Amino acid sequence: MKPSIYITRKLPESVITPLQKEFEVDMWEHEDVPVPRDILLHKAESASALLTMLSDKIDRELLQKSPSLRVVANLAVGHDNIDLEAAKEVGVTICNTPDVLTETTADLTFGLLMATARRIVEADRYIKEGKWKSWSPLLLAGLDIHHKTIGIVGMGSIGEAVARRAKGFNMNVLYHNRSRKHAVERDLGVHYTTFEELLTQSDFVVVLAPLNEDTEGMFQDEQFLLMKDTAIFINAARGPIVNEEALEQAVKRGDIAGAGLDVFEVEPIDADHPLIKLDQVVALPHIGSSSKETRYEMMALCVENIHAVLKGNKPRTSL
Ligand code: DGY
Repeated sequence: MKPSIYITRKLPESVITPLQKEFEVDMWEHEDVPVPRDILLHKAESASALLTMLSDKIDRELLQKSPSLRVVANLAVGHDNIDLEAAKEVGVTICNTPDVLTETTADLTFGLLMATARRIVEADRYIKEGKWKSWSPLLLAGLDIHHKTIGIVGMGSIGEAVARRAKGFNMNVLYHNRSRKHAVERDLGVHYTTFEELLTQSDFVVVLAPLNEDTEGMFQDEQFLLMKDTAIFINAARGPIVNEEALEQAVKRGDIAGAGLDVFEVEPIDADHPLIKLDQVVALPHIGSSSKETRYEMMALCVENIHAVLKGNKPRTSL
């Protein structure tokens, strides 16, 4: 019998064709509805490989109930939805999609920063609602970006790619990271600071750190209070790094000037979410890596990794 692969979201046929030649491929039928947990557990029970989304929980229960499982290829660089320790214990290889999404995610992060600082979304809404009656000196006046200080929390490859963009805007770039990166400091001219220094000195605080036990809940009232009242907060990493209630209060009180968010504590959010009622907040539905080119590359990388593991070879990107 051919090894079987379960794909937890409907992907384009062209992406899965290379797998169909050698393996049994089964796929959840919806593009924009996640596979229910009971179906995922049931499919995983007999699968040799899973191609998963960041919304699928690959936890100890699932891993222990899936005796044939050899590889999980997650369509994301982040892997906080997967219990790596349990996977190691049961000998399942976990693959993610680093590198191919770095520049695309940095583009979006910098775009979100610009949209928030220059009030681009508000301005678009203003004109479409027929409110533009005359030019006026301070109409939708935002904040400058060039020559300001940006503080990057989490200097992985996406952080570095954002730093390069910031340098193009003549920004002073600070960063805080678990480990210091001397080569990056030298090559890009960025400066390491403590977390507190970064918060107090930055005009833009940009979160690009992975979600783990050290970063969960890293931003509370106290951290927003340390920031400048003109500062813009950007989160393109994971929602649970931030206490959303604290962020909402910080924006409402004017402790910070605004926020650009591509991620939320619990996703998806609905139209009642308190943060998106605020004009100073620009919200996106977790589209950091979502360019057509990059999403196809990510899917192809997942396919390549599954193929490699099932054929007994080393995958290109595993954790
Ligand atoms: C990732 O890859 O972790 C991103 O959040 C997906 O866009």
